[in-house]
Amino acid sequence: MTYDLVIRGGTVVTAADTVRADVGISGGIIRAVGLDLDRGAKEIDASSLLVMPGGIDSHVHLAQPFNGAKMADGFESGTRSAIAGGNTTVMPFATQPRGAGLRVSVEEYKALADGACYADHAFHMIVSDPTPSVLGQELPSLVADGYTSFKVFMTYDDLVLSDRQLLEVFECARSCGALVMVHCEGYDAIRFMTDRLERAGRTAPYYHAVSRPESVEREATHRAISHAELTDVPIMIVHVSGREPMEQIRWAQLKGLKVYGETCPQYIALTADDLRGLNMDETGGKYVCSPPPRDHASWEAIWEGIRTGVFQVFSSDHCPFRYDDVEGKLRPQGRTSFRWVPNGIPGIETRLPILYSKGVVEGRITVNEFVALTSTNHAKMYGLYPRKGSIAPGFDADLVLWDPQRKETIRQEILHHGADYTPYEGLAVTGWPVMTILRGKPVFEEGRILGEPGDGQFLKRPPPR
Ligand code: URP
Ligand code: ZN
Ligand code: ZN
Repeated sequence: MTYDLVIRGGTVVTAADTVRADVGISGGIIRAVGLDLDRGAKEIDASSLLVMPGGIDSHVHLAQPFNGAKMADGFESGTRSAIAGGNTTVMPFATQPRGAGLRVSVEEYKALADGACYADHAFHMIVSDPTPSVLGQELPSLVADGYTSFKVFMTYDDLVLSDRQLLEVFECARSCGALVMVHCEGYDAIRFMTDRLERAGRTAPYYHAVSRPESVEREATHRAISHAELTDVPIMIVHVSGREPMEQIRWAQLKGLKVYGETCPQYIALTADDLRGLNMDETGGKYVCSPPPRDHASWEAIWEGIRTGVFQVFSSDHCPFRYDDVEGKLRPQGRTSFRWVPNGIPGIETRLPILYSKGVVEGRITVNEFVALTSTNHAKMYGLYPRKGSIAPGFDADLVLWDPQRKETIRQEILHHGADYTPYEGLAVTGWPVMTILRGKPVFEEGRILGEPGDGQFLKRPPPR
C-alpha cells in the first residue's frame, strides 16, 4: 500500500495541462500524478470527472464589521459554503477600524477564525487609517510576517482614503514589498450623485446603480493607476464591472505598469435591471453591491478582459447580508434610501459553477483557463504558490472533483451560506462540484458537508523576497 488515498482515473486539469491520470496522496500532500499508480488505503473512482485544484477565492468578506449592518457569514458558515462550492482556500480581510491599530485588528480577526474554518485561509488587511505608526511600523512589520497584501478604498464613508493617503500607503507598500488591492470608485462623485438623487426622491435600490455609473469607476481606476505609476507599486484593481475600467487596466498593462485585474460573477451574470424595484419592500436591495452590476454589453467587455488576460483572477467578492432582516438589507435605515442598504452580495458557493457554465461550457474559455482564473493565479498573486493552486507532487492535496455534465439550477435551498437568498436564484448551470478534498480529506460530497470547523488551517505566507 503506497498511498493514503488514490483518486483513480480522472481527467486531471491544471492551468497548463489536461491529462488522464491517477493522483496519489499521502499525509495530505500530492505524492504522484501518473498512470496505474499503486493502490491506496482508500480509493475514489473519478473516471467520469474532472480533477482540478480546489478553488482559491482571494476576495471574500467574512465576519467583517460593515457600517452598522451584520454580515450573514462568519468564518464557520462562510467557509462551509466555500467548500460546498469546490473551494479549499479563502482569503478574507482583517479590517482596521479608524482609530485602531493594524496589528491588533489582525490578531482579533485571526482569533475569530481559529478553530472555526472548514477551509484553509489567509488574510489580507484593510487599511483605513494610515497613521504615521501604521505606515512607519505596523504595516512593514505585518508584511514581513507574511500579511503581504492589503486593500484600500476610494469610497465608503468609514474606509475612504484621500489621494494623499493613497500615495503614502502605496509608497509604504512599495518599500515593504506588498501588493495593494484597490476599490476604485470616486467618493465625491458618488456623494454628489447620491445627494442629487435623494433630493429628487429617487431613493429606491435601483438608484444605487445610477449613483455610481461606470465613469465614476473609470475615473478612480485611472487615478489609482496614476498613483501606482508615481510610486512604482504593484496594484490589483478589484471587482471590475465593465468596459471602461477594464480598458484603463489594459492601457496600464500595455504601458508596462504592474497593474493587475480582478472580476467577479456578478459582472457576467447580473445587470442593473436586477436592482429595479418600486419601493424598499421590492427585491432590488438583494443586488446592491459596489461597483453595481451593469448591462449585457458590460458582460461582453468583461469576457473580452478575461479572454485577453487583462484579468488574472476571478473572485466572488462574497459579502453576504441577510435580506429580510433588521440587521441586513431591509434594516430600518436601509428602507429609507439606497444610501443605507448594505453593499454586498453572497457568491462564495456559486463562483465556480457560474464561471464554468458561462465560460467553459459556452465556449468562451478553456478548462485550463478556468483553473488559472479560479485557483492557480490566486495562489501565484498572493504568495500561496507552490503550496496551493496546482496538481503536482509536493502540492497540498486540495482538489475538487467536478462533474462537467451535471445540470443544476442555483437555488437558495441547496446552498450552505448564512444568507437567506442568492442573487442567482433560478440560474441554470452545467458543471457542478461533486467532492471537495482538503489536504487529502474529503470535506464535501454530493451536497453533504463531511468536514468540521477547525479542518481549515491558517496559511502563513512567506515574506516578500
Ligand atoms: O458591494 C461590495 N462589493 N461589498 C463588499 C465590499 C467591497 O467593496 O468589496
Ligand atoms: Zn471593494
Ligand atoms: Zn469586496
